[in-house]
Amino acid sequence: MKNILEAPFIKEISDITANMYRLGWDERNGGNISYLLTEKEVSEYLDITKVIREIPLGFQADEIVLNKYFLVTGTGKYFKNVKGDPENNLGIVRISNKGDKAELLWGYKDGGKFTSEFPAHLMSHAARLKVDPLNRIVMHTHPTYTICMGACLPTDEKIFTRKLWKSNTEAVVVFPEGIGVLPCMICGTNEIGEATAEKMKTFRLVSWTNHGIYGVGHNIDEAFGLIETVEKTAQIYMLTLGHVVNEIPDEVIIGLAKLWNLKMMPGVIDEK
Ligand code: 13P
Ligand code: ZN
Repeated sequence: MKNILEAPFIKEISDITANMYRLGWDERNGGNISYLLTEKEVSEYLDITKVIREIPLGFQADEIVLNKYFLVTGTGKYFKNVKGDPENNLGIVRISNKGDKAELLWGYKDGGKFTSEFPAHLMSHAARLKVDPLNRIVMHTHPTYTICMGACLPTDEKIFTRKLWKSNTEAVVVFPEGIGVLPCMICGTNEIGEATAEKMKTFRLVSWTNHGIYGVGHNIDEAFGLIETVEKTAQIYMLTLGHVVNEIPDEVIIGLAKLWNLKMMPGVIDEK
């Protein structure tokens, strides 16, 4: 059996959480990540017949995630501490075959458990897997300018998407399907999980007004890259708010979409 502390997925999540902390997105225990692993990947490092403990999920997991393995950040744990102590700050769980429990195979060593946002993560994994079987990552974080921007706009995904696309030419290229927007809700609940997963049927990005953002992808780079592009664009938007002279013309946004052969979210730019 190989040493799990040397597993590529542990290194990846340790590096990205440290990186996100340094960007100032993940204060205290802010943010959480879940990473779908294959049984083959997990079996190289762990005896998958040895369940350390069972943790109730508090909701019924979708059929598509039953018996699946996830590497998940722990609740109350700080992103800045993951790299130095993965076994306390992370856990590897398998969703039980009835979908009501998580079977802990490694981690949460101090008796902890998965993030309080696990409903939103697991429900989002299920929603994305149905439209994109290669999706493996759900990432949640609190990037400053994205939260500022959400506070300055109505909770309307067409308006939010338009403001982003009009502020940075990369935006439409990176997320042509736009960004989903939820109003301010109580976090850590099944309700916000269900609302997030509903948006994930169409979007790879979902803004939680007054709270943060969710991004998904085939790998860590993809999920992080989506969020990073929104945050950079939101920074441009907020720093120029009230001073803009050169807004990106609609024709340029349409031209970029044509150049890259992208299907834009309808109703955001008037295509005439
Ligand atoms: P957890 O510490 O439970 O992951 O919660 C952090 C957070 O960002 C809540 O939305
Ligand atoms: Zn949060």
